[in-house]
Amino acid sequence: MPDAAAPTELEALFTTLDHAQREGVRDMDPETFRRAGHAVVDVMADYLAGIERYPVLPRVAPGELRARFPAAPPEGPEPLGAILADYRALVEPNVTHWQHPAFFAFFASTASGPGILGEMLMATLVANAMLWRSSPVATELEEVTVGWLREGLGLPPAYDGLFTDTASTSSLIALAAARQAATGDAATTGLADARPLRVYASAEAHSSIEKACMTLGIGRAGLHRVPVDADYRMDVAALETAIAGDRAAGWHPCAIVATLGTTGSTSVDPVAAIADVAEREGLWLHVDAAYAGVVALIPERRAAFAGWERADSIVVNPHKWLFTPLDCSLLLSRRMDVLRVAFSLVPEYLRTLDQARPVHDYNEYQPQLGRRFRALKIWFIVRYFGLEGLRRRIESHIEMAERLATWVDDEPDAELLAPVPFSTVCFRWRPRRFRGQEEEAEIGSALDALNAQLLERLNATGEAFLSHTRLGGRFTIRLALGNLRTEPRHVERAWALVREIGAELDRTMKSESGDREEAGHGGDTDGRGDLGG
Ligand SMILES: Cc1ncc(COP(=O)(O)O)c(C=O)c1O
Repeated sequence: MPDAAAPTELEALFTTLDHAQREGVRDMDPETFRRAGHAVVDVMADYLAGIERYPVLPRVAPGELRARFPAAPPEGPEPLGAILADYRALVEPNVTHWQHPAFFAFFASTASGPGILGEMLMATLVANAMLWRSSPVATELEEVTVGWLREGLGLPPAYDGLFTDTASTSSLIALAAARQAATGDAATTGLADARPLRVYASAEAHSSIEKACMTLGIGRAGLHRVPVDADYRMDVAALETAIAGDRAAGWHPCAIVATLGTTGSTSVDPVAAIADVAEREGLWLHVDAAYAGVVALIPERRAAFAGWERADSIVVNPHKWLFTPLDCSLLLSRRMDVLRVAFSLVPEYLRTLDQARPVHDYNEYQPQLGRRFRALKIWFIVRYFGLEGLRRRIESHIEMAERLATWVDDEPDAELLAPVPFSTVCFRWRPRRFRGQEEEAEIGSALDALNAQLLERLNATGEAFLSHTRLGGRFTIRLALGNLRTEPRHVERAWALVREIGAELDRTMKSESGDREEAGHGGDTDGRGDLGG
């Protein structure tokens, strides 16, 4: 681990209060800022250069950190050097290191160099992109970069859009627009007199869809979870049956959400067939491609997305797999007019003379008023890497995942638990003697216990961080690639750890169950009395 105790140049420089702190009524002076800024960038670069010296998961217990910060705020100013020293001692080592190349949990969210630089400039400008007037360039650069990404993704010019903070907000906005389209004008009248609305999403859809229903007065009861097939893709026949049944029962179907890259297994709903249903039924089609959507930047890999160009709205998250620091989600829609009706409210103090001309006042398309200048970091990232460079990086992650999938497949003591359409591999350790018996309840729960322990032990090494899900009721380990710094050696090491720990746990289980046998628990008549767990 980096030596957090040695004073940095910054700490040495700023050991006393500066003039502005002692007697000023304004900000830090620009010269102090310049020197501090250079030193802070050194701290940032040192962090990125030395990231692999940290365990991916900090070794701290809940509550331990809070106790190390003073409970009361300081009454007087403190030297910048002291703040920075505490940052290095208390903050930097105790984040979960999303920037670590062996971060394989959830979906990656890495901040690239150009993305971080864009963030810094964005903070400096405080360009609030709520109205064109409140920051003309933030608004117009958003128009430009939304257009760049739209075109890069191979979507037609009929789509326009905006950047929001998260996919959760993007889907909330999309479903609010769907609600508006279905009800006539729920934004004005509310839902009191409306028939209860129904939204359809697969059993594997992200919780943000359910939360959007909770927020929009549709309620969790208004979300119809459609069953999935053996590959965790929405069953379209079941969708049609569900809509017909709901109509007969007095529900008001409103929207279908297709997920391209589900959170658990990264399965791909059959969006073209779902678009046919949406069209026939007159329902809003929202596509959640928060994680996998960026793969459409690669023309050769667009087959998985065929049909998404018919959606009313689409969400793709640059802050997942486009190397953009949190936060940034791209919401595209071919019905921006409906989004606007759902959210536009212009009080007198927000009226500007520019409204006579066609300008985007982006606050009219979302619940919040204030908006960050997210387009700036996207502009940096797309220009720095080029679409070609972004494609190459995404492609390399897919290739590493495909290679890992073949290792899992070739390992007699492990099994893949889902297809690998993108960069996430779902698997479990399944000692070969259990092959063919996985459906038996006792063996199923022993495998669940073994894999939960495997994950715990692997993450405790600090060498990698993986997370889990449940697929078909089975405890499933997920290794999700998407970190800009990951190299093949990191995936190789993670897989070596899985094999090592899996085999060791299996040996322990065997010997524990052997001990039980000896202690008089009966003979091992079926040859697998070694389940342990
Ligand atoms: C498919 C999908 N949709 C939506 C989300 C929510 O993303 P956000 O954190 O940007 O709200 C996730 C998060 O992992 C996701 O996997």
